[in-house]
Amino acid sequence: MEASGVPPDAPPLLSIVGLSKSYGGLRAVDNVTLEIRRAEVLAVVGDNGAGKSTLVKALAGAQPPDEGEVRIDGKVVELRTPRDAEAAGIGCLHQGLGLVDALDVPENVFLGREPQIRVLGLIPQLDHRTMRERTIELLDRFGIHLPRLNDPVSRLSGGQRQTVAISRLLLQDVRVVIMDEPMAALGVAEGHRVLDLVRSMRQQGITVLVISHNLEHVFQLADRIAVMKNGRLIGVVATAETTREAIVRMITFGQTH
Ligand SMILES: Nc1ncnc2c1ncn2[C@@H]1O[C@H](COP(=O)(O)OP(=O)(O)OP(=O)(O)O)[C@@H](O)[C@H]1O
Ligand SMILES: [Mg+2]
Repeated sequence: MEASGVPPDAPPLLSIVGLSKSYGGLRAVDNVTLEIRRAEVLAVVGDNGAGKSTLVKALAGAQPPDEGEVRIDGKVVELRTPRDAEAAGIGCLHQGLGLVDALDVPENVFLGREPQIRVLGLIPQLDHRTMRERTIELLDRFGIHLPRLNDPVSRLSGGQRQTVAISRLLLQDVRVVIMDEPMAALGVAEGHRVLDLVRSMRQQGITVLVISHNLEHVFQLADRIAVMKNGRLIGVVATAETTREAIVRMITFGQTH
């Protein structure tokens, strides 16, 4: 058993099989086959333009591939829209985070799925109390501390806003969370808080797919590292069995040894 409690021989949660996506004549993702396990943190690394974002967009239903398929628990799933991905339990943290600045934390966490109560049994109203209570429960469960839940999220720091966006995904019972460069715009302390949150998600059985250019973070966080170059998957290695030098060689020269 691994630390997460998942047997190492469990079937993969998610399989990407022969996935390709071209833009005009450019093969942005070229025949990628990759298995993603339950409750693992898999980092995807590679130079600019390697195809990392294009690959995860296919999983998020943001950009359907030209060829190939995605299987969850061995079954083929069609991920043509973000809604398909959501229904399959795949949540994606977009760069813009998709928060509404003027709303507070619980309102953003529940955006689009707000519980309602009926005043005098008639007039529907947002159930702010339930939203607040469930938000606090959710934040507690993942060890997240946000000081002022009732402030508009425009007043929160970059890392706190990211935490609110992740909380939105967690409210939907996601099984896979995709993060494209989550730490890029954050300071050191805030970056560490996001790392802690990723570890907490893994502990709760959530699979995290994270794209990052920061190899220090990648080595701190990932169970395995997938390296892409020119749209191809060069290799996937266990973090404990590799070195930074080896990963840099894979990124730069496409060498696996
Ligand atoms: N919408 C698009 N239209 C045309 N070409 C695109 C589009 N999106 C990506 N590309 C091209 O596909 C290739 C792969 O891009 P992608 O964004 O997947 O790379 P990446 O590995 O995420 O890079 P970065 O680290 O810079 O974010 C690049 O050559 C890019 O210019
Ligand atoms: Mg990218």
